[in-house]
Amino acid sequence: MASIAMKKGEGLYESQKLALAYFAVALILFGAQLLFGLLAAYQYIDPNFLFGKLSFMTNRTVHVNAMIVWLLVGLMGGVYWFLPIETGREVVGIRLAKWIWWIIVAGVGVVVLVYLFVQVGPGTATTLWFINEGREYIEAPRWADLAIIAWVAVFLYNVVATTLASRRVTGLLGVLIFDLVALGALYSAGVHYTVNVTMDQYLWWWVVHLWVEATWEVLVGVLMAWSLMYLLGTPRKLVETWLYLEVALVFGTGILGLGHHYFWIGTPEYWIGLGGFFSALEPLPLVAMVVHAVYDAGAHRLHAVNRPAFFWAILQAFGNFIGAGVWGFMQTLPQINLYSHGTQLAAAHGHLAFFGAYVGTVLTLVYIAVQNAAKVVRIPLDTRSWSWSYALFILGIFGLAGSFTISGFVQTMVERAELGSTWAAFIASYTHPWYTNTLVWRFFFGLMIFAAYLILVYDLLSIYAGRALGKEVRRAQ
Ligand code: HEM
Ligand code: HEM
Ligand SMILES: [Fe+2]
Repeated sequence: MASIAMKKGEGLYESQKLALAYFAVALILFGAQLLFGLLAAYQYIDPNFLFGKLSFMTNRTVHVNAMIVWLLVGLMGGVYWFLPIETGREVVGIRLAKWIWWIIVAGVGVVVLVYLFVQVGPGTATTLWFINEGREYIEAPRWADLAIIAWVAVFLYNVVATTLASRRVTGLLGVLIFDLVALGALYSAGVHYTVNVTMDQYLWWWVVHLWVEATWEVLVGVLMAWSLMYLLGTPRKLVETWLYLEVALVFGTGILGLGHHYFWIGTPEYWIGLGGFFSALEPLPLVAMVVHAVYDAGAHRLHAVNRPAFFWAILQAFGNFIGAGVWGFMQTLPQINLYSHGTQLAAAHGHLAFFGAYVGTVLTLVYIAVQNAAKVVRIPLDTRSWSWSYALFILGIFGLAGSFTISGFVQTMVERAELGSTWAAFIASYTHPWYTNTLVWRFFFGLMIFAAYLILVYDLLSIYAGRALGKEVRRAQ
């Protein structure tokens, strides 16, 4: 068990040290994401809060952008962690990787400061380049977009060159390389700007949907395969077979599933049928991932070398299925989406899906890394505090998404279906007690999530400092 990461007595590869820096920055940005989410949630309750100083739109922008960046950083950190283990050597081009990483960290800092301090003014060609490109989730100004593309290019080079140098292209590495090419190429679709809103949205969704529902899902498939091999000692043949099935299903359903964002933006009508049909099949690969995780966990009677990582991996499988599969499916058929489109049901789904699929993965990876980087390595790793953080996170995120679901339900049923989207209907839904009460619940569950985050950070630091449970195995150099 644990044969793929534990080489007793050996220190960490440089690439793994870089991975630790990735994880540390990811966790700091996670904290920032949550703080700005709390501010946005509080402004729903008291719209005068920070009025004229820090607008809701800025808080929301920082909230969602910090999320995209920290999750991407966490997933890339996972690749830098496992790549030297998979290839049995140091990552080729590691110095370049370190350089570009610190440039990116500085760049992210500048972008956030600009968001916070330069909030108002007309949008021009200059602001597009230097302030904000104005598209939800990928608001980054164009100079930052180009920096991100350069960063992903270096990352791809690291992965390809290391794979070639190792002279052994495993199935997992093959899938990873193929996926990273798509991930980098699709991001560049978001740099294209046109004043035609339909064309603009058409390409914007190539980044947003094809990223999160296709390329990120496949990346997660590869990372979870490595994690399961590490945590449970699952044979490579088994994880690879599952991965091929999942990749086929993810791309088979997800590419045309893109059509569920093309229903009402001015694209040809055939997207209603195509998008409805293929996106309704999108939960299939997610079911496969649950079956895979449960099968592996059962085969090993829940004995893992790292309990927190193992529980986060299980949460990832179920959370991905529930958040993306179930909450996504709820609103993906055009007959339903006609009424639910753009309501807070989308926000409910967004929270659950991003949390289940990606926060779950990154935290699995972080716990695996911290186990090996700790001053005293313990197997199986366990602590007293991780389960508190885990439980509070799950309760908090379901409470938050539940609140969004109820307010979205009022918008869909009262404002749209019953009263027909008039101005009076809008007022009726926004003053409905099911709507107004949930604003407070959201803030409350947000505080719970923040408490879970603080315990998580405490837990990771105490493992790093060597204060964990489990048998002592080796000291890192
Ligand atoms: C991990 C995977 C996924 C993530 C992270 C995710 C995330 C999101 C987010 C954040 C939005 C809101 C976009 C906006 O602001 O306009 C959204 C919209 C949507 N998602 Fe997903 N999603 C995932 C998978 C799925 C799946 C598998 C389905 C279908 C079965 C789905 C169906 C939808 C639909 C229909 C909308 C549009 C809702 C509307 O019309 O307002 N999603 N998704
Ligand atoms: C302290 C906890 C959190 C609070 C209070 C919070 C609150 C909010 C609020 C108020 C919004 C704006 C909704 C709107 O525009 O109407 C939002 C958007 C969003 N949040 Fe959070 N959030 C929290 C944690 C998270 C986490 C952990 C994730 C995912 C990992 C997340 C992902 C998102 C996404 C994807 C959106 C955009 C949704 C959409 O476009 O429909 N949030 N959040
Ligand atoms: Fe989508």
